[in-house]
Amino acid sequence: MSRTHRIAVVPGDGIGKETVPEGLRVLDAAARRFGFDLQLDHYDWSCETYAQTGRMMPEDGLDQLAKSDSIFLGAVGWPGVPDHISLWGLLIPIRRSFDQYISLRPCKLMPGTTSPLANRGPKDIDFYVVRENTEGEYSSSGGRMFPGTPREFVTQDSVFTRHGVDRVMKYAFELAQTRPRKKVTSATKSNGITFTMPYWDERFAEMAKNYPGITTDQFHIDILCAHFVQHPDWFDVVVGSNLFGDILSDLGPAVAGSIGIAPSANINPEKVYPSMFEPVHGSAPDIAGKFICNPIGQIWSGAMMLEHLGEKDAADAILRAIETHLAEGGPRTRDLGGQAGTEDVGRALAEAVANGA
Ligand code: NAI
Ligand code: MG
Repeated sequence: MSRTHRIAVVPGDGIGKETVPEGLRVLDAAARRFGFDLQLDHYDWSCETYAQTGRMMPEDGLDQLAKSDSIFLGAVGWPGVPDHISLWGLLIPIRRSFDQYISLRPCKLMPGTTSPLANRGPKDIDFYVVRENTEGEYSSSGGRMFPGTPREFVTQDSVFTRHGVDRVMKYAFELAQTRPRKKVTSATKSNGITFTMPYWDERFAEMAKNYPGITTDQFHIDILCAHFVQHPDWFDVVVGSNLFGDILSDLGPAVAGSIGIAPSANINPEKVYPSMFEPVHGSAPDIAGKFICNPIGQIWSGAMMLEHLGEKDAADAILRAIETHLAEGGPRTRDLGGQAGTEDVGRALAEAVANGA
């Protein structure tokens, strides 16, 4: 009997409706070639749903999603609905309820594309940012007292649990173990933040002991940002707290090039809950509806999803197809200097995967 993976498909808003079908086209080609089935459940949850129903998703939305193995998401957010409503009505509940405590972003300069950094090629930029996605600086612990008076003050607590810190670090080390360079860099700030960050460093050193084959180093977040720009070749796997990881996971893909290509994953590594795979970009209202957006970020996110589902060969085939396509001048959308439409790129990649890239 062939393997079946059940996927919840949420295109969302704007160009999500254009990129997701291309992602599915390529996933379908991979499924046929590598002999597994994808059972798709489609959900039209979006800002349009919100306009009609007052909710981004139905009350039992999370229960519906919980039945799937993974969630394949386009983009969420549209002018007219405040971003905090679309974010907190759909994405955040999914990330939190499904304990997707890893946010993972590859930062990889693809052949045939250019980095905003001068004189850098694909060999120089190939690393992952691993961000803690559930605690740390983004806590709901804190408050405001004496509002509107001269005594007014606000606090927001950072929350670092041993459980939370250890599990993100473990993930980073395990990931590094699958890579040729086998190196983990920790983002810290223990010179200025004197309780939580020394604790972070302590747990990092402790975790490193379990992985004698892995090289480690650590930098304070400020100089680390500078190094991303000046020495992207130093990095292999970079692990950071929720706040530092947030910053690095926008900076990393930016040094690697186009927003239209960058993929991301929100992962529950134990697979107790579904993980979610989505491009880094948003709904791009400025170009939506024209079918000129780049679907590669979505398609690459699909490859990450297959890898998570245990379909490593299929994931590798999609990534190879993207690399060959870009290196050998396949059809390109405007963000990469071409004239092709979204569907042209999707079709070309699906064909490449089908034909044994
Ligand atoms: P955006 O990523 O949608 O667009 C930024 C710029 O990049 C635009 O000029 C856009 O045309 C271009 N761009 C983005 N994706 C592209 C693609 N695939 N191909 C070619 N060009 C592309 O970010 P923006 O404009 O800040 O946000 C628009 C909406 O998307 C907002 O409502 C925001 O909240 C939402 N958003 C949602 C995200 C998600 O679903 N995870 C992530 C980021 C933004
Ligand atoms: Mg961010």
